[in-house]
Amino acid sequence: MNILMATSECLPYSKTGGLGDVAYSLSKEFVKKGHNVLVVSPLYKKKFDFEKNHVTFIYSFPVKMSWREQNANVLYCLHDGIDYFFIENDYYFSRDGGLYGFYDDGERFAFFSNAVIELIKHLPFRIDICHVHDWQGGMIPCILKNLYQNDQVLGKIRTVLTIHNPLFKGYLSRESLGDLFNLPLWLYDNGSVRFDNQVSTLKAGIKFADKITTVSPTHAFELTTVEGSKGLWYDLVLRQNDFVGILNGMDYKEFDPSKDSSIYHKYNVKNCLTDKKINKEIFANEHGLDQNKPLFAVVSRLTDQKGLDLIYAMAEHLIGNGGTFAVLGSGQYDTEQMFNDLYARHPNDTFVYIGYSDDIAHKLYASSDFFIMPSAFEPCGLGQMIAHRYGSLPLVRRTGGLKDSVICYDKERKNQDVANGFGFDDYNQDAARWCVDLALDTFFNHKKVFNELVHNAMKTDHTWDKSADKYLELYELVLSYNN
Ligand code: GLC
Repeated sequence: MNILMATSECLPYSKTGGLGDVAYSLSKEFVKKGHNVLVVSPLYKKKFDFEKNHVTFIYSFPVKMSWREQNANVLYCLHDGIDYFFIENDYYFSRDGGLYGFYDDGERFAFFSNAVIELIKHLPFRIDICHVHDWQGGMIPCILKNLYQNDQVLGKIRTVLTIHNPLFKGYLSRESLGDLFNLPLWLYDNGSVRFDNQVSTLKAGIKFADKITTVSPTHAFELTTVEGSKGLWYDLVLRQNDFVGILNGMDYKEFDPSKDSSIYHKYNVKNCLTDKKINKEIFANEHGLDQNKPLFAVVSRLTDQKGLDLIYAMAEHLIGNGGTFAVLGSGQYDTEQMFNDLYARHPNDTFVYIGYSDDIAHKLYASSDFFIMPSAFEPCGLGQMIAHRYGSLPLVRRTGGLKDSVICYDKERKNQDVANGFGFDDYNQDAARWCVDLALDTFFNHKKVFNELVHNAMKTDHTWDKSADKYLELYELVLSYNN
């Protein structure tokens, strides 16, 4: 199959969150299974290392958006068997700052979406599946369905939209339909792409993609409920026969405690009970923490989605009850200050790193006993899976992908033969503290159970194999509609 991934970010070239990981590791799995994968993404020039990444210029074409005409240069490289096509345009993508967050993000990704369509026209072979991600790619299925339905080549392409984060709708004005996409305004007037009295590119994707997915089965359910859908339930219920949740996997090569050169001491599932500890000992000594106390870690963007108030309550509670706490992340200024303040009050039990460092993140996964992730909502989540891989037991709020990927220890049911973490349901501080208490009790008073859970965690299978097959089945299914 020829699969085109249109994505606003993809490792190893760009990433702000889980989408960058998923676009890359899923594509790699498709290649392993014998498919051709083209990843198309913008070239964020200020962040791109031209020396290190050998890219070849292939062609240049104009992208017309009514009165605007902007040029797209297409650069190419092959990496891990994946064909990367970068859309280069200095006006839109050569900027200081992050990947997103500019006043004209809507226009930037309108340009990107139009450029993807132009690129497809230039390719010397046919694309079977165009898989788009989040609001940035949402308009592509809409353009294909409305402007190219009868085209011999483009009309045959089948589209899949994956929702990684339902919070971001991709808002644009009604007029932008014609102005940026050459689409008729009646698509807005009849409600097809209207959301909150604006155009939403995410909604356009939901309406026009052949299939819609999100990144876990539980989140797929949540997205059809009033409470859990960030407003999308109505549109997703209408498309429920074409909507499915497929749990993300993770990159087992990138995160491997038996080969990881960032961590202090390598270990594997066989020697984890003795050798993992060495990491905590060194980490604790380096940062003035007590190595005999359990270490709870957080590696996260510090945004409300991640349950910041619960993280803070859990940190206070565990420090007061014989634990140590480490956090690495950046985001909301007030939260960063809160953690700095926590450190000022408990310097011997706290490690705070505001910012991001891959190296320290890996060290934290390897050194910690527990990994805290009490998200308010979490379509899938990657941290809990990496934690498993490093034998750090996740403490999660059972929502979205956290519910689907962590088997929570239940003291009454004695499920220590299968459990690989701890969890609670309700979003409140009492429930979160209860969960910390159970983790501490297991660590201090039931060492055998604790060790079993660590073992289970390290054995958990979060590879892409099965989930990639589910995507491929879905692709086959939509392609069969062609016949
Ligand atoms: C988004 C979601 C996260 C998910 C990731 C990759 O960042 O918030 O839950 O794991 O996308 O799908």
